[in-house]
Amino acid sequence: MRRSKKLAVLSILVPFAAGCREMQSALSPVGPEAERIAFVFWVMTWGSVVIMLGLIALTAVAILGPPRWRQAIASERLVIGAGIVFPIVLLAALLGYGLTAMGANAPAPSEKALRIAVVGEQWWWRVTYQTPDGRRVESANELRIPVGQPVILELTAADVIHSLWIPTLAGKLDMIPGRTTRMRVIASKPGVSRGQCAEYCGGAHALMSFYVVASDEAEFEAWLAREAAGAKQATDQSGERLFHASGCGACHAVRGTPATGRIGPDLTHVGGRMSLAAAALPNDAGSFARWIRDNQQIKPENRMPPYGIFSEQELSAISAYLANLK
Ligand code: CUA
Repeated sequence: MRRSKKLAVLSILVPFAAGCREMQSALSPVGPEAERIAFVFWVMTWGSVVIMLGLIALTAVAILGPPRWRQAIASERLVIGAGIVFPIVLLAALLGYGLTAMGANAPAPSEKALRIAVVGEQWWWRVTYQTPDGRRVESANELRIPVGQPVILELTAADVIHSLWIPTLAGKLDMIPGRTTRMRVIASKPGVSRGQCAEYCGGAHALMSFYVVASDEAEFEAWLAREAAGAKQATDQSGERLFHASGCGACHAVRGTPATGRIGPDLTHVGGRMSLAAAALPNDAGSFARWIRDNQQIKPENRMPPYGIFSEQELSAISAYLANLK
């Protein structure tokens, strides 16, 4: 009995603990936009707590108070003032405040800032950077941004409506096919945040996440230069040969090799990312093997077919090749 009680308490607490993970919490802001949103949240929360307490007190007086007090709160003036005028004025003020706070983040189309294009696809993120010399560099499922600088995320979608949400940095913004929406984010300190698709986009919607890595400017520039370079030469070429011979390059690009596919994520530096399959798996050789073989179990109905054709040895050769693409 005691054990089941303990389990019941734990099962109530677990979601709270998971929800409070600072990496993906709007209440742990690491940028001015998310700070503004957190501030709106606390104003609304504490405001409603104060009003609720006032209502409870009035109800207690109405039920249990001395007749003189009960008479006072039954007056028509109080009913009209506190029951009609007060909510109208307060809700209108809160609406105005909320809209102003939210609208403050919309960037002008011509604003000078680092721009990163993000396309939502079922169920991953295509991310395109621009190098200082104007080259476009494609990556996936991870955002790298410099600290302290405004970054404008240019969002669109390839198939259905998605929504990009990095709770520690900003509010959510829809990604709509055929339209570009823009969001400004500024990370105020280095660190890793987690983002999530926030618009139901099909069966694996919940498995459409990503990491955002904010680092100081020099580190970001060094990373972008590495990311812009082609894939490094494989030390053991059996995995690479198998990758190309099996037709992986029809859907995936590995820059600097014959693989130039555009359907799935660019894999040029996939081994250097924080996760695989849009944060569904950790990034290691074992996860590559699992994904290649069991991807339809891990993320049902994703566009990659399951590759049951490989032997264990072939799987580990391909996985080792991919894990080494850093
Ligand atoms: Cu993409 Cu939900």
